Amino acid sequence: MGTVTGSVDRAGAEWLQYAYGPALFPPEATGSATLWRYRDLLPVPDGPVRYPVPVGGTPLLAVPALRSALAAPRLWVKDETRNPTASNKDRATAVVIEDGLRRGIGTITTASTGNAAVATAFGAAAAGLRAVIFVSTGCRPGKTALMTQAGAWVFQVHAGYAAAVELSRAAAREFGWLDRNTGANPLTVEAKKTVAFEVWEQLGRRLPDLLVVPVGDGPTLVALDKGFAELEHCGLTERRPRLIGVQSAHCQPLVREWAGQPATPDQLDPSGTAADGIAVLRPATGPAVLEAVRRGGGGMVAVSEDGLRHAALALARRAGVSAEPAGAATLAGWQAAVDQGLADRSECAVLLVTGREKAAGTPVDPSRVAVVETLDQVARALGAGELAAPAVGR
Ligand SMILES: Cc1ncc(COP(=O)(O)O)c(C=O)c1O
Repeated sequence: MGTVTGSVDRAGAEWLQYAYGPALFPPEATGSATLWRYRDLLPVPDGPVRYPVPVGGTPLLAVPALRSALAAPRLWVKDETRNPTASNKDRATAVVIEDGLRRGIGTITTASTGNAAVATAFGAAAAGLRAVIFVSTGCRPGKTALMTQAGAWVFQVHAGYAAAVELSRAAAREFGWLDRNTGANPLTVEAKKTVAFEVWEQLGRRLPDLLVVPVGDGPTLVALDKGFAELEHCGLTERRPRLIGVQSAHCQPLVREWAGQPATPDQLDPSGTAADGIAVLRPATGPAVLEAVRRGGGGMVAVSEDGLRHAALALARRAGVSAEPAGAATLAGWQAAVDQGLADRSECAVLLVTGREKAAGTPVDPSRVAVVETLDQVARALGAGELAAPAVGR
């Protein structure tokens, strides 16, 4: 680990910084790699990595059939569905749990639209931690089933995702749990920035012209911006790619803000889109997303349900990539960016595809799920005396 310091930027985001220089970046990769390859640019102290599951090192696909169908000869897919639970949330989970293992914390909590929770449930299971998840009652049953299959406790909140985040964060403070909430724990951004490092290396140590990125709470896009900034700070690159952020037309708070026409609450309908992973009413890192998009000269686009469906089919049939609707959003978003003159077909463009449709193979285990409104109900449901985190080896 390089020397780490912290700072908060104009948009209120917390950034960790390192004593940047080319030596922090690893030499050319030989063979398969994981995100720990970038250890000197992660806030993980020396010593063996304890997190037991390989994460990261996902392929950058050249997608020849998709390229010729779209007349886009330099289109790439960064296939984050190849992570253990099929999304980039596995990266954040790995780094947060690694931190928890080193600090001897036995319980991890997060709120989630679904994928971060699945990643947390499986990551915690592998590492021997307890996972306590908070979701909206609207969370897809297939994702909830996966969480309980991995042994997580799942608390459903009627008031929606924002209320689930508040409860999860309050529980972390009250009970001393590891807080993995995206946008709250800066380690999630540190972990997800490794996607930028991989893309640069996989393009032969070159930057693409643009990246198309799904935006829910925003850390995925903010992290890419930080990764590209760090390549520059290390003296390895001299510019940053444009970032195009994608939201669903049904829930596009940041697209509307970008366009200078902020949406009123009645214009945002998270339940109206199949892209549940990016249907967030109040993105946790919204200002930082808009700042990153502005800085790189990119833009924000919204995509329709039809666009999502066609994109998922095209990714499956012409790229061999199985993506859930929020995962396919970046192909639909690239098309929207081309239509709006924000991107050109001839440019080197990378689509970040994260999230595959999920099925557990076992039903939701009702004994591990409860609907709650308060922290007291959480404590009662978990059982008095069980709330102290089980000790794990330091
Ligand atoms: C499939 C999928 N895509 C994109 C996102 C958006 O990521 P972020 O919240 O970092 O903007 C999520 C978040 O849950 C997701 O599940």
